[in-house]
Amino acid sequence: MKKIILYYSRTGNSKRVAEKIGEGMDIEIIPIVDENKYKGIFGFVRAGFCAARWKKVKYSVDLKEKINDETHVYFVSPVWANHSASAVYSFLMDNDIKTKSIIFTNKGSSPEKAYSAMEEKFGKFQNKYCISNNENNEDEINKLILKEGSN
Ligand SMILES: Cc1cc2nc3c(=O)[nH]c(=O)nc-3n(C[C@H](O)[C@H](O)[C@H](O)COP(=O)(O)O)c2cc1C
Repeated sequence: MKKIILYYSRTGNSKRVAEKIGEGMDIEIIPIVDENKYKGIFGFVRAGFCAARWKKVKYSVDLKEKINDETHVYFVSPVWANHSASAVYSFLMDNDIKTKSIIFTNKGSSPEKAYSAMEEKFGKFQNKYCISNNENNEDEINKLILKEGSN
């Protein structure tokens, strides 16, 4: 099965994770770009407000090949108010992705609510991971993703 990574990152953490995993698995990584930049404190508040309500945003993504049922998509996204970032769920609202995994980055809250919210809305994610700043678990989770991704 073909694998690709789609990621969104506001401040660079998810981008770094996507790049490391992309390199480790030797697969393509493609950003989902949100038209909003969410700069400063107002941007932060707006991002949380939109995400908590599943508010759809305008985004762009430069897919070179169409994703089909034979593609496993790894989404890398920050946790925003117990959801994914808006660009990621907006993409999922537009695209019925059958085989998918989620790799969250966050500050340190439990990711369980974000996992459930995403699965209730978009169906099963094959694998779910969370790299938390406070847990200092980036290397450990990266290794696990690469191990499970090679099966
Ligand atoms: C609007 C907003 C909401 C957030 N909500 C949470 C949260 O519920 N729990 C948490 O642990 N971190 C939360 N964070 C922190 C981010 O998930 C974390 O810093 C993430 O690694 C940022 O990824 P990025 O650098 O790729 O943008 C939030 C950040 C933003 C901007």
